[in-house]
Amino acid sequence: MANYNPPPYRIKMVEPIKMPSKERREVAIKEANYNLFNLRARDIYMDLLTDSGTGAMSQGQWASVFLGDESYANAKSFERLQQVVEDITGLPEFLPAHQGRAAENVLVGHLLGIKPGKVVSNQNFDTTVGHILFNKGEPVDIVIDEGTDAKNLYPFKGNMDINKLNKILENEAEKVALITLVLTNNAGGGQPVSMANVKQVFEIARKYNKPFFLDIARFIENAYFIQQREEGYEDKSLQEITREFGEYCDGMWMSAKKDAYVNIGGFIALKDKTLADRLRERLIMFEGFPTYGGLAGRDLEAMATGLQEAVSADLGVVAHRINQIKYLVDTLHEKGIPVVLPAGGHACFIDVAEFLPHIPKEQFPAQALGIELYLRGGIRSVEIGSLMFGKHVDGVFVPAKMELLRLTIPRRTYEKAHFDYLIDILVSIKDNKEAIKGLKITEEPELLRHFTCKLAPVE
Ligand SMILES: Cc1ncc(COP(=O)(O)O)c(C=O)c1O
Repeated sequence: MANYNPPPYRIKMVEPIKMPSKERREVAIKEANYNLFNLRARDIYMDLLTDSGTGAMSQGQWASVFLGDESYANAKSFERLQQVVEDITGLPEFLPAHQGRAAENVLVGHLLGIKPGKVVSNQNFDTTVGHILFNKGEPVDIVIDEGTDAKNLYPFKGNMDINKLNKILENEAEKVALITLVLTNNAGGGQPVSMANVKQVFEIARKYNKPFFLDIARFIENAYFIQQREEGYEDKSLQEITREFGEYCDGMWMSAKKDAYVNIGGFIALKDKTLADRLRERLIMFEGFPTYGGLAGRDLEAMATGLQEAVSADLGVVAHRINQIKYLVDTLHEKGIPVVLPAGGHACFIDVAEFLPHIPKEQFPAQALGIELYLRGGIRSVEIGSLMFGKHVDGVFVPAKMELLRLTIPRRTYEKAHFDYLIDILVSIKDNKEAIKGLKITEEPELLRHFTCKLAPVE
């Protein structure tokens, strides 16, 4: 049996949760039109939809909430957060935003506004894809081949394919508007990117004079993987590693709802003051004055403390979290459930193409498994497969690279008994999996369809 390391915290406040009855679950999933995003939270026992903004803040963070300076402009809380972000990233220019996609709106909107074109990434996340398409750009994903092979044990499966990047730039540099790396690669199984890869991409971006930004929603988890797996980093602190990221890029944007351990927040940090000032103009239009960026002073305080605590070796919060996920992944693997290996950060990803081979990809096998997991166990997960990334090109269905069901682990929220319950439910599904049916879309919006589309079981 896989190891479960004891948590570096104890619980001071609890939130009651309740299992809805089987009859209620059956009604609830129909009412939600088989879209897990539409389920009501009250109808869920264990919510693994996302780790975004769903974690538990520490006592230190709650204490700093009371220190929030709610001045409209140039609040003390802004100055404190700016300093913390500079300490952790080494980047001097700082713009708060209310969450990751708000930062994307400002950054991607500005850069593609100047020069529409390709945004080349290891794997653009769905909200980034939304902003790229909205701004008439084209997302291009060139994660290494190992990154789409669920069984490959390569330690940095989030890396960008450097040969492909070189080819794109040799052949059509003028069409590239922006280069990004997502740390860790959420859409590709939470797999980390090595520092060597960040550095290589940076050097190529420099050579072709292209802006290079890091999507750092989970960069402290990524730094932990580098510390554990990359030669030469074993003795470096998490903060030394995150500061090194800052050396090899033009800037970063963050959905702070992940590695900053807050329920809301985000920011952009960068080197160039002129670009920062242009971005501030957009920030004022979409988010608010550049020193609060759509957030209250108390949110800025909680974010500052959350970031400081996350990089602290003493507190060990990130190490515990990554080990928690490893326990879940390794135990499911031992029990014969196909999962993306090795365990990445923030989530366990079930390889549903292998688990449910009888469901064709155009019938969204990972969504079908997500529905079954809810019906059996009151557990909400999220599809990261053809419902999220599949498309029709000239009437032909193009599936996502992988059909994954993501079991996303909120920070400091669930404990070993919850994970063991989840494991038992998945094992019981495995024993009857041939009975699970695929789904079809009955209604869909133009962009980001997985959030709001309606589905129905295929007869
Ligand atoms: C890698 C990555 N980038 C960007 C975002 C968007 O952030 P937000 O949900 O805060 O808008 C997310 C959210 O899940 C993410 O995982």
